[in-house]
Amino acid sequence: MCGIVGVTADPDQVPNVMPMLVQGLKRLEYRGYDSAGFAFIECGSQKLLVFKNKGRIDDVVRSYGVSTYCAISGIAHTRWATHGAPNQVNAHPHLDCNKKIAIVHNGIIKNFAELREWLVEQGHRFESDTDTEVIAHLLEHFSREERDFFSAFKKALRMLEGAYAIAVLHEDEPLRIYFARNISPLLIGLGIGFNMLSSDIPSMLPYTRRFIVLNDGEYGYIEPYRVHIEKEGRSIDWRARITTITWSLEDAEKGGYPHYMLKEIMEQPRVLYETYMGLLSSREVEDAAKILADTDKIFITGAGTSYHASLVFTYYLSLLARELAIPFIASEYSTYSRLSGSDSALIVVSQSGETIDSLQALRAFKKKGAKIIAVSNVIGSTIPRESDKTIYTRAGPEIGVAATKTFLTQVLALTFLSLRLGLIRGVLTQSEYKDLVNELKRAGEAASVSIEKSSRIIERLVIGLKKSNSMYILGRELGVPLAYEGALKVKEVSYIHAEAYPAGESKHGPIALVEPGFPVIFVATPPAEHLFEKLQGNIMEMKARGASTILFGVDGYEDVKGADIVVTVGPWGEVLAPYALTPPLQLLAYRLAVALGRDPDKPRNLAKTVTVE
Ligand code: M6R
Repeated sequence: MCGIVGVTADPDQVPNVMPMLVQGLKRLEYRGYDSAGFAFIECGSQKLLVFKNKGRIDDVVRSYGVSTYCAISGIAHTRWATHGAPNQVNAHPHLDCNKKIAIVHNGIIKNFAELREWLVEQGHRFESDTDTEVIAHLLEHFSREERDFFSAFKKALRMLEGAYAIAVLHEDEPLRIYFARNISPLLIGLGIGFNMLSSDIPSMLPYTRRFIVLNDGEYGYIEPYRVHIEKEGRSIDWRARITTITWSLEDAEKGGYPHYMLKEIMEQPRVLYETYMGLLSSREVEDAAKILADTDKIFITGAGTSYHASLVFTYYLSLLARELAIPFIASEYSTYSRLSGSDSALIVVSQSGETIDSLQALRAFKKKGAKIIAVSNVIGSTIPRESDKTIYTRAGPEIGVAATKTFLTQVLALTFLSLRLGLIRGVLTQSEYKDLVNELKRAGEAASVSIEKSSRIIERLVIGLKKSNSMYILGRELGVPLAYEGALKVKEVSYIHAEAYPAGESKHGPIALVEPGFPVIFVATPPAEHLFEKLQGNIMEMKARGASTILFGVDGYEDVKGADIVVTVGPWGEVLAPYALTPPLQLLAYRLAVALGRDPDKPRNLAKTVTVE
């Protein structure tokens, strides 16, 4: 899972594409940052130059003085290592033996070992351990046999098995960039006197708002004034597929905050309101609810944060529609897809719409005849395109690797869906349904009040918590998925071990770790009348072992005993509690990361969009 970008321009319109290449790549750094590299055709000399190394884009650009070069076209790559250690030789672009063909690739070539063996027998010399390098040598190989490079490119593609988004630059065709997409995302950005390729839209937004989302199996080339796309040997008429994007560039940038993660946490009140208005004014939810109403079995899946949103949905579906949804972690799909069929529906939750585990789950269910509903934040991404119906969240681009604003917008969309099914099933009357939908309008307000009430105390809490190696986050009922999500945030950005459990489960094992000073955070959700006593008991159990206990709860938990610190975030009932109780945990994770000198936007070993299984 990596990011790729390519630009080709008419020098009279864009005299130097290097700034576009560098800036475009930097916006893709969330997709991986083990190494970075550039291949470009130098203005004047028309030679192919390549600079690459391990480390972050800025370091690579600085160490080779990349920005001081002038280029008429180029391709670039930021890597999240899969095959081969993150070092200089394994960094992309990769080259053929003659060093005239450069390639960048996102994805995994499954049959690279056989291809490599065959190419070595043919006399090709490999420099790296990557799967990608085989493509450069295949291109070199077939360009000797074929009449033109495009035919060689197509022949090489036919040999590849696996996932790829590819961009190729050949020194002999300086203004043409070849591309291909299979499973891994790739889009074309259309400019005036230039065209671009990239793994996502925000990286191209400063230059154009007009895009073509490539489909699996499509390949072709771009030139400054030409786009050519083919699939299975037939040219594609792409003009009707142009999407014009209205997000502002500012939406995709930091807006004065020190980190994207903080900006995105703070944006939640606004994006919740926008998502709410969008859901209210479209038919997406109604259509999806009808699909669910016509099926016997409802499954819901996602990875990481999107899985936690799925768990919240299971809670609401049972509460508001008296229906069971079976949640599962996307990568574990085979246990569940086996039990699905045309009587089933699968909801696939994915902010990026590109997560491969979720996509594979979708495809397995689809094969069995299940109906598919996507919940996604990215228009035109693969999961929505392969689904029967999509409910879009309107969180805007999320750049921080940690999912924050997209989680709550997913929860909002899924709560709408539960309400609608509750109405169809007759569990809710029309007026109950209306009241609850009206209540959801306050989701943004719940987030904003809670941020206001909890920010100060979180800064103080961090002083002690940053010294801990480990902590628990516990909840009951609706509090459980919120605790899971809080623990995921803490560990992924602060690198402090944080584990979440249902509070009742803690004495079945996890409590063995608790010793004096061990931090245990409780997420106390409504209804307090129903959960107070039990949570109180769980807090006392921890306190009796010397734990340092903190409670984040809605109003009604102020008088809880045994908690060292109690933070109440407002008078929110069951449908609004997630919007009030999630931001404090996100802020806690963020503040811990900053206090410990971590980069919250780009946590180590992670990438924003995970396109490998
Ligand atoms: O784009 P998706 O929602 O499909 O991504 C799924 C997970 O990779 C993602 O939610 C991940 O767990 C978060 N970045 C964690 O903060």
